[in-house]
Amino acid sequence: MKAHTISDRIYALHADIRTEDLFEGIWPIPDGVSLNSYLVKGEKIALIDLVRDWGGAPAALEAELSQAGVKLADIDYLVLNHLEPDHTGWLAEYRRINPKVEILATAKGVELVKSFYKVVDGVRAVKTGDELDLGAGLKLQFIEAPNVHWPETMLSYEPSTGTLFSCDAFGSFGMLGDRVFDDQFDSGELRRFEEETLRYYSNIVASFGLFVKRAVEKLAGLDVKVVAPSHGIIWRREPRGIVDRYLKYASYLDGGREREVCVVWGSMYGNTEKGLGAVVDGIEDEGVPYTMHRVPNEDASFILADAYKSEGLLIAMPTYEYKMFPPMAYVLDLFERKHVWNRTALRIGSWGWIGGARKEYEEAIAPLKWSSLESVEWAGVPDEATLELLRERGRELARAVKKACGS
Ligand code: FEO
Repeated sequence: MKAHTISDRIYALHADIRTEDLFEGIWPIPDGVSLNSYLVKGEKIALIDLVRDWGGAPAALEAELSQAGVKLADIDYLVLNHLEPDHTGWLAEYRRINPKVEILATAKGVELVKSFYKVVDGVRAVKTGDELDLGAGLKLQFIEAPNVHWPETMLSYEPSTGTLFSCDAFGSFGMLGDRVFDDQFDSGELRRFEEETLRYYSNIVASFGLFVKRAVEKLAGLDVKVVAPSHGIIWRREPRGIVDRYLKYASYLDGGREREVCVVWGSMYGNTEKGLGAVVDGIEDEGVPYTMHRVPNEDASFILADAYKSEGLLIAMPTYEYKMFPPMAYVLDLFERKHVWNRTALRIGSWGWIGGARKEYEEAIAPLKWSSLESVEWAGVPDEATLELLRERGRELARAVKKACGS
């Protein structure tokens, strides 16, 4: 990797992490992830966000600093916009390398510096409106942005270049390689990053949509020319585009979702799958697009992304030992935690010797405030009359989705 210049004194540094590890110990990252840091070289030198000792990230950081003519020990200020260990895990070791560095974070961040890394001295709390003058015409202004997605989060803004260092806000999964700016990727590559931005948002940030909106409101008076997040692409051709995308995702909670159905299904011996086919035929009859996700075969991370954007949900599962099919119970629990709320939904499924999934399902979705069509359940193999009912229910679901989306 190499250091890229945002301006003649501001550098983008990043480590690409290609790993079998799960992000946050939960989410797969088949395209990896970048850990972005930023160097601001005034008369004093600031580094914005650090790394975790993961996939060679500290060595990459040191090498890229060197390309910018800076050693680890030269840095005067370490600005920690966010304390989650993907950006700070190497902090204690770095402090040993550079004991004079002053650490800046919000007051809550200072507490986390202590609890995670036992570092107390040389740590300064900053708040909205505070400014760090680095000389040579460069300043960092701090804007608290609590709960995007941790409570200590802040954004840093350099006014002479209009660079917003936004930490996790406006970030994405996916490695960058030798390019970091939006104008260096073609439309196909940007579409792939868009998919990974939605997955990142739905997995990491979705529970905090209200706080995303509040953070964006705080940017109203700023002339943002570059959005520089801590993961993924740096946006300089269309800085507003990524902000608007995040706002759109945040608004999915209230409506404006895509005119699509996300199908989440599991089947033990093919009987629920057979009924599902009839419902999907009905959805197709009405011309509504859909995505298909089988549990537990597909990781819930990817299901969340499609469920998050879709107005319609079709949940298909058999009864398993008097209750829900267990992998579906996990997905529904994630839907509650990640605010997949207020959807138009249908549940179907078979049972063997007795039902039971319905009761547990209805309890699970009660807090989600879904608008549910009447479920269809059947014993064993669905007969022709059941298949026809299922097909009609698929049409009803599609029509309800179109109505909810105003079409
Ligand atoms: Fe990228 Fe919330 O840490």
